[in-house]
This record gives sequence, structure tokens and C-alpha cells, in this order.
Amino acid sequence: MSLSRRTFVRTFGVGSAGALTLPAWLNARGLEAGTFGTDEAVTATWRDGVPIKLDSNENPHGPAPAAVRAIEQSFRRASLYPSKGEQEVRDAIAKANGVAADQVMLGCGSGEILRLAVQAFCTPTRHLVAAKPTFETPAKYAEVLGLPVREVPVDGNLALDLKAMLAQVKGAGLVFLCNPNNPTGHVHGKAAVTAFVEAALQADPEVIVLIDEAYHEFVADPSYGTSIPMVSRHPRVVVSRTFSKIYGLAGMRLGYAFGAPATLTRMERLRLDSAIGGLTQAAGVAALADPMQVTREHAANLEARTFTIDWFTKAGYAVVPSQTNFILAHIKRDSAKFKDDCAAQGVLIGRVFPPLTQHTRISIGTLAEMKQAVQVFGRVLA
Ligand SMILES: Cc1ncc(COP(=O)(O)O)c(C=O)c1O
Repeated sequence: MSLSRRTFVRTFGVGSAGALTLPAWLNARGLEAGTFGTDEAVTATWRDGVPIKLDSNENPHGPAPAAVRAIEQSFRRASLYPSKGEQEVRDAIAKANGVAADQVMLGCGSGEILRLAVQAFCTPTRHLVAAKPTFETPAKYAEVLGLPVREVPVDGNLALDLKAMLAQVKGAGLVFLCNPNNPTGHVHGKAAVTAFVEAALQADPEVIVLIDEAYHEFVADPSYGTSIPMVSRHPRVVVSRTFSKIYGLAGMRLGYAFGAPATLTRMERLRLDSAIGGLTQAAGVAALADPMQVTREHAANLEARTFTIDWFTKAGYAVVPSQTNFILAHIKRDSAKFKDDCAAQGVLIGRVFPPLTQHTRISIGTLAEMKQAVQVFGRVLA
């Protein structure tokens, strides 16, 4: 059964109280946008003064339709513990990526995988190596646990400084390599990543290298390639992915990692049992099974991203070449103020990533949203 507007409203209990009772994520885009993802609906919500949400690199078209159907069909299984279903998800991920199921582990979002890696592999005497700026979870969690962190600034082109990172590997517990990197959007080619990983593994006999591929499905650069094949060759390599981006399932919390079984076990034993809910499992399996999901979202993102990059470039602001569902633009002024000013006009954009305090990270929404958003950017930057 497909999710009609009426069944959606019934399902989520939105009655006469209307929009006031909607969950926050739905309020942000409007009911129609959340259900159907139409450009008209998004435009309508904009006219109603609802913010355009370009702050968290979510999928602006909503969840993969196949996942929504699977969630609907799974409501009745909510009384059962979901532990057995994890195997089905791991099997589906393994099949889709050409690895064995025992080379896959699941997480409550890939954020949990990143935390588990810090907890499992770093110690008071074995530090974390991470770029600056990069996705903050590993460094923040290491700080919470009182574990040492060595942050390596990105280079002049805002690419990860692989040489400088390598120099910090000796004695490390974990190296976090985000490719493409959030927030810069920069991608490193397969040859460069492979050379880096092999040199890092040689530099220290214990270190684990984690390659975060949260934005993998958006990349078109022919020099890029996933690092998944490396996990079969190198037991000290872990690759993480997520359903939060191209599959539109950020709210369901499902991430996964590839690695050697013994390496994954070191993280797995720190996980909560039955952490992945049954509806989430059903959503993940169904989303993977739809061959058009990635193709469709990749194309829509590329069109809206190209439009947005062109706008900034024509307006005289450099944009880091992006292979993701966000861009980083150099706005030549304080980005915290720019963020506040855009929010005041109904467009939410990304947080500030020190030390890049004059750059702004903007998630790519629908083309209709971006056409509205650039008008606000234009007014604020004027
Ligand atoms: C690079 C990167 N890794 C991991 C995550 C965590 O995502 P999730 O926990 O939703 O899988 C994000 C979220 O934005 C991210 O940008």
C-alpha cells in the first residue's frame, strides 16, 4: 500500500490540531513536502514562511519511497525484539557491496560506528588522528573520553593534508579519514587513499584506519573509488557508510561499517544489543533493493548543486569543488553572522567549522528550494 496523504496523516496522528502537532522535521518542510517531496509543495511552504532546511545534509526529497512502504508494512512487528532482523540487513548490505556478511556491522547511524571506533581503538597512550575541519564526532567523542587527539589542518586547497596526517600516525590508535570530507566536500582519488592507508599501516603496527564514506553515492569523480575492497586485504581498515544521506533515512538512524570480522568484533562488543529498531531494519533493506533510488537522487542533487555553485561563482564567491550533497562557499565575511541573517529570512544553513570562519556550508535542497534560497543569500550578502 502506498502512503497517501490521508493514511500518512492518520498514521502520524495529525488531526484537527494540524501543524502544531507535527514532528519538528516535518514542520521544517511542510506536510506535503515530507510526504511527496514535490517542488510545488516546497514552494508553497516557503511562501507560508516555513524555513528551508539546508543545515544537516539531509535528503530534501524525503525517505526512499520503498523504505516508506516497508516501514508501513512493519508497524505490526513493533512488538517483537528486532535482534534477529539485523542479520537480514547485514546480508542485504553484504550482497549489495560484494563482501561477506561477517565483514559488515550495523550502527545507530554511522555516528555510532565512529564513536565505537574511537572507544575501541584509542587509549590514553594511543591518540586519534583527524583532519581539521572534518566531521567532528570522532574528535569530540575522544575529548569526552579524555583521549588524546591530533588534528591536522587541511591544506591550502582545503583538501585533507595526507602527508601531514601520515606524519602523525606513529603511536596512533585510530586515523579518521573522511572521503569526501565534510565540510569541505573535497574528494581524494583511490590511488591517493590506497597509498595513504598502506603507508599508515606500515608506520604503526597497531593503528586502525577508518575511512568515512557517508557521501560515497554522490561522487562522480572518475579518480575516486570506494575503499571497501581494502578491508579484505587489510584487517586494520574499516569503512563506514550511512542510510542518512542518499537514502533519506537520517531519522531512522542506520549506519554500517565494513571490516575484518576480528576488527569489527572489537567494536561490536561495545554496542547495545538490539539497537537497530525493526522499522529501521525494514527501511534499510527496502531502500537498498530499489535500484533507482541512488540514480534518481544523484541526478537531482547534481542539478541543484550545479545551479547553486553557478550562482555563488557568478556572484564572485569561490566554492570548493564538491562531490557531495553540500557545498562550502568562501563568503569573505563572518559565517556565523551570515548563518543568523539567513535564518532570520527563513533559510537554515550549516554550522561554522573553525578555522574556516569565512566559509559557509550549505546543504543542497531541491532545485526549487535552492532557487528560493539564493535570493536570500543575495540579499544577505549584498
Ligand atoms: C561525514 C559524516 N559521517 C558521519 C555522519 C553521521 O551520520 P549518521 O549518524 O546519520 O549516519 C555524518 C552526518 O552528517 C557525516 O557528515
